Amino acid sequence: MIGRLNHVAIAVPDLARAAALYRDALGAQVSDPVPLPDHGVTTGVIELPNTKIELLEPLGEDSPIAKFLERNLAGGIHHICYEVDDIEAARDRLLNEGLRVLGDGQPKPGAHGKPVLFLHPKDFNGTLVELEQA
Ligand code: CO
Repeated sequence: MIGRLNHVAIAVPDLARAAALYRDALGAQVSDPVPLPDHGVTTGVIELPNTKIELLEPLGEDSPIAKFLERNLAGGIHHICYEVDDIEAARDRLLNEGLRVLGDGQPKPGAHGKPVLFLHPKDFNGTLVELEQA
């Protein structure tokens, strides 16, 4: 069921600084900042040969990463995203296994416009997992 690693998302307090760090220290190509008001974040995307890194900076009052950054002042890995071929089949399989899907369980358009779901970190070794329709 599980497919490619789509991205690793890193919450950062200062996107410009984080982008400069990846650019200057690692020689990465970082996209221009992309504000996603519906998701409460501004992203900077780093394309790697085999996956992407998404730097996430809070945007607006109710950013979903604000609390995370209160606990992790320097930032930190926020979630990892796996691709699945059929997100509703994946959800049903996980629910059948007794695992928790966040929210109302209905896939919603994610940062890339494709349907996504999030799985409870307590069910996945302390890692917030995003599933994205491939
Ligand atoms: Co994501």
